[in-house]
Formats: sequence, C-alpha cells, structure tokens
Amino acid sequence: MPVHNSPFTIHNSQLFMSKNGQQKLRVGVIFGGRSGEHEVSLNSAQSVMRALDPDKYEVIPIGIDKNGRWLTGDVVGTLTEGKASHHATLLPDPQATGLMQLDEGESVGLTAVSQLDVIFPVLHGPYGEDGTVQGLLELANLPYVGAGVVGSAVGMDKAIFKQVMTANGLPILPWLLVQSKDWRRRPYDILSEIEAILAYPVFTKPANLGSSVGISKCRNQDELRTGLDEAASYDRRIVVEQGVNVRELEVSVLGNNEPVASVVGEVRPRRDFYDYVAKYVSDDSELIIPADLTPAQSDEVRRLAVKAYQAIDCAGLGRVDLLLDVENGRLYLNEINTIPGFTRISMYPKLWEATGLPYSQLLDRLIELAIERHEEKKRLKTTLD
Ligand SMILES: Nc1ncnc2c1ncn2[C@@H]1O[C@H](COP(=O)(O)OP(=O)(O)O)[C@@H](O)[C@H]1O
Ligand SMILES: [Mg+2]
Repeated sequence: MPVHNSPFTIHNSQLFMSKNGQQKLRVGVIFGGRSGEHEVSLNSAQSVMRALDPDKYEVIPIGIDKNGRWLTGDVVGTLTEGKASHHATLLPDPQATGLMQLDEGESVGLTAVSQLDVIFPVLHGPYGEDGTVQGLLELANLPYVGAGVVGSAVGMDKAIFKQVMTANGLPILPWLLVQSKDWRRRPYDILSEIEAILAYPVFTKPANLGSSVGISKCRNQDELRTGLDEAASYDRRIVVEQGVNVRELEVSVLGNNEPVASVVGEVRPRRDFYDYVAKYVSDDSELIIPADLTPAQSDEVRRLAVKAYQAIDCAGLGRVDLLLDVENGRLYLNEINTIPGFTRISMYPKLWEATGLPYSQLLDRLIELAIERHEEKKRLKTTLD
C-alpha cells in the first residue's frame, strides 16, 4: 500500500497560526469506539472539543465507529447522523505521525490529512481506555493525554488492579478470582470456595469491563450462580467480591510524577447499587461535592487515591473510586478510571472545578502533562550505548 509522504494537506499554514502568530497545537481528539460506552464517549468528546481554546489549539476530530472503523471529516455527524466521512488511520510508524486518509478508489492509497502534535483519547472502556490505543500511540511516537499502556491496562483489569493494590499495602475488600472455564467445569467446587471465604451478598464482575456491565449483586447461592453465568458470558476471568454497605467516594487525580488530588465527591445512586441503569438510563444518581466527610477522612481518601494512582503507574489523569464501609468506617480502593467521563457535568471535571481548576484550564494542563511525559520519555535511553 503506497504511503504518500506528500505535503500534508495543511497547504496554508497561516490557517494554523494563532492571533499572536504562534503555531497552534494540533490536537487529535479520538472518540466513539467499540465499547459499550460509545455514546458516553461522544458526549465527553464533544464537551472537550468545544472547550479547547481555539486560540491555542487546532482540533482534529478522529472518530471510531462501533465496528472499530476510524473516521475523519465530519466525524460527529457521521457517528450521530450517519453522514458521510472518510476512512482514516494512524500508522504505527514514528516517521509518519499524521492522520492518514484511506483512499478507496481503484487502488488503495493513503493521503496525509493533518499532522498531529498531541492526541487526546476520549475513549471509555475496552479498545480505548485499556492500553490498546495507547500502544498504537506509543508506536507512532505521539504524545497523548492520560496513562500509558501499563497504567491503562491495570486500571481496566479489576483482578490485576486488586493484586497491585495488595502488593502496595493498599486496602481492598476480600475477593476471589474465578476462571470462567473453571466455573463451567466444576461449579460445585467454585461455589464452595466462594462460600468458604465470602458471605452474602457478594458482587460478581467480569474482570475487564466497565459501566457496571455484567456486574451482579448476589444475595444467595441461586443469585451467585446466575451472577457467575452472566459475568462468564463477558470475560474469561471473574472477580467475586465481598459486598458491603457502602458510601461511594470519588476523587480526581491529576499529574505525572507528582500527582495531586481534588476535593472528594460522593455518588448516591437511587437504585440498589450503581448499576448500568443508574449510570446511563435513569441518570438520577446524586453527585455530592464535596462529600460530607470529616477533614481527616477526606485527607485519607485523597492520600489513598494518590497512592493507588502511583501504584498502577497512572499518568495525566485518573478518577479514583473508593468505597467507605458505613458499618465500620473503613475505606477500600475500588477502581481507577484512567479515562473518566468528561462532559461538563461529569464527576472528574466537576471535582476539579470545585477545587479551583476550571474545565478549559484542566484541558490545558492535561495537554501539557501529555507533552511533558513524552519529552521525559524521549530523554531516556532505549538501548545500551
Ligand atoms: N464490594 C462491593 N460492595 C458494595 N457495592 C459494590 C461493591 N462492588 C461494586 N459495588 C457497586 O457496583 C458498582 C459497580 O462496580 P465497579 O466495581 O465500580 O464496576 P464498574 O467498573 O463497572 O464501574 C459500584 O459503583 C457499586 O455501586
Ligand atoms: Mg465503578
């Protein structure tokens, strides 16, 4: 397939000059994607694109449809209204850090659409928040907002996340890992293993999804069987976790080597737990900012959040979710979302706003952190001299 190195279609570089004559930073915003959070990602990305300061940035929207096809052009129109746009791709080639348009005529070719200076992946869930897209961006040698491959993958995998927390002495609820194949092959052993360690209610969770998809609260053995079947239909590995009566706390963390935590927020779902319906269908959960905690409690939440963030080698941003056991007041790390919801009313930016960092300044900082991290990495040796 020929790659035309040809002039990127930025024929008129004046177009990309800001008022003060400086070149604008070309920010590729990637959104949509193959996960169940496709629509959430569209909303987050539209908020981000609207808030990026047009004096500083040239926004290049890059959409991914539900089949995983990359698009350029009127991408939002394509994804929401089926409008025409072009098939696009990024190459895993550090010499070709531009967005490429696939020309599908008689012979297939690539034309460079736009050079990219930094990427803002606004993709939630698998194939975006899990290190896959980050891997491509590493190969392409492009700076990008957010965690790298490892931080993203560990943030996505609930089982590995828990193992990393334990290895760092950070508190998590008692849990067990069940292989889906073992559940199918020897269900009686699995049930008795779970019942020997945990008490009902327990939560069953596919190891690698988000948005509460495939998660069940199981109050007895019958419900546990159904919960395990459900989780096994989504993943090869299932996390079975002690259920407790909790308050759900969330903290926004920002930074690379010296991450800082925002004020603490609380989510109060009106349903039995913060399930898919509570998150996206009824959408009636209460967000309380700041959470009603003692100063000592909120300091502890923020301390744990930063420790957890560092433990998984998170970078840029992460929303750290904790559970506060209402019976004994203990705090547990639940998860880190490395690309949290990013609309103006989402918890991550709202917590920063409440801490004194408004939405568009938060975007500036994230882009700065992406570039800093890339520069830092560039200075490191990759081979023996
Ligand atoms: N151990 C637990 N005890 C009580 N509630 C839980 C527990 N684990 C999960 N939940 C409830 O289920 C929701 C979804 O679980 P979570 O692990 O955060 O998965 P997801 O990645 O899909 O958000 C939580 O927000 C909380 O309401
Ligand atoms: Mg969650």
